[in-house]
Amino acid sequence: MAPLVHVVGARPNFVKAAPVVAALADREQVLVHTGQHYDERMSDVFFRQLGLPEPDVDLGVGSGSHARQTAALLTALEDELLRRRPRLVVVYGDVNSTLAAALVAAKLQVPVAHVEAGLRSFDDTMPEEINRRVTDSLARLHLVTSPEAIGNLAREGVAVEGIHFVGNPMIDTLLANLDRFDVAAARRAVGLGPDGPYGLVTLHRPANVDDPRAIAALVVALKEVAGSLPLVFPVHPRGRAAFEQAGLTSIAGITVVDPLGYIEFVSLMRGAALVVTDSGGVQEETTVLRVPCVTVRPNTERPITITHGTNRLSTIEELPAVARAALAAGPPPDDRVPPLWDGRAGQRIAEVLAAWLDG
Ligand code: UD1
Ligand code: UDP
Repeated sequence: MAPLVHVVGARPNFVKAAPVVAALADREQVLVHTGQHYDERMSDVFFRQLGLPEPDVDLGVGSGSHARQTAALLTALEDELLRRRPRLVVVYGDVNSTLAAALVAAKLQVPVAHVEAGLRSFDDTMPEEINRRVTDSLARLHLVTSPEAIGNLAREGVAVEGIHFVGNPMIDTLLANLDRFDVAAARRAVGLGPDGPYGLVTLHRPANVDDPRAIAALVVALKEVAGSLPLVFPVHPRGRAAFEQAGLTSIAGITVVDPLGYIEFVSLMRGAALVVTDSGGVQEETTVLRVPCVTVRPNTERPITITHGTNRLSTIEELPAVARAALAAGPPPDDRVPPLWDGRAGQRIAEVLAAWLDG
């Protein structure tokens, strides 16, 4: 019987779990990889670079529609948790692996701890919003990265005794690796010259990349931005074919590359004049690195990256103008970062989990 099982499956999960698993190194723990992400560049590279232990098991569920992927996750995770019989299951973020692990554990009467609980975009067109709400309704321990999450959970009737404001483990990983971010090497690796400003782009939300009209509009907007700022775009597998079809790869000033390893990607982020994204994690990382960020979404579950950070929202059509404004403004003058984004969240989470297990 393993007292503690962590369930991870997708790229952002690995970045968030690494400091928690490290802080619990003296405990018996099991790392379950669902296999939701499986490409070398979406999975293995993170285990290597972030010092995560090899997963104890990889369930290999792979890709599919929401129903098919979630069904495969539920079946595989039920077998796995029945075999392991843990006392606590730890889930991360808002992906389908998070939802499935919480549901299976709750039905087996195994308490669930949710890392990054309480974030809300209030936009049910995002699959992640549904995953967040359901996971939080099932979790026993809510580990909160940002203060507004406490109010969100309280409004949904979550018991306050289970809510712990611990800070942001994704930022632990960032701060722990600061010495390894080599902007010059990362520039060379993607073929950027040694000098001059550039922008970094990541886009993978279904609302942006699954709709051919949105993709076409994004390509037009990125081409305009690239007219005055060279762009590097590591393309997530979800949008790859659609972006290629829409002509992204033949635009002068846009370097399209495969997804990058964490160290290479954050190195490029650190040196960028501007980041254009729809990623949750990237909004947080740019906030701490003080790199101007434009998020191509109508809302964010991370409003603190706007109030305390470098983030601003944009429609696709307004992207060139919002990018110009962000570049002109540069980083905010003060060096405020959100509270408890201090590199010690993993330790705090470990303390909460250990206290729960011990008593
Ligand atoms: C998932 C999460 C999203 C998160 C993102 C992080 C859900 C509902 N969505 O989105 O919240 O922001 O991960 O990156 O869980 N694919 C590959 N190789 C891989 C993985 C995926 O080629 O290693 C392709 C497959 O064609 C797959 C598609 O990407 O169908 C989408 O993968 P999936 O895991 O379903 O969702 P993401 O878009 O990656
Ligand atoms: N990331 C990376 N390589 C890339 C793109 C992103 O290492 O090519 C990292 C990024 O720095 C962050 C995490 O992946 O730590 C975010 O994952 P993603 O954007 O896929 O998911 P989200 O945060 O939107 O759920």
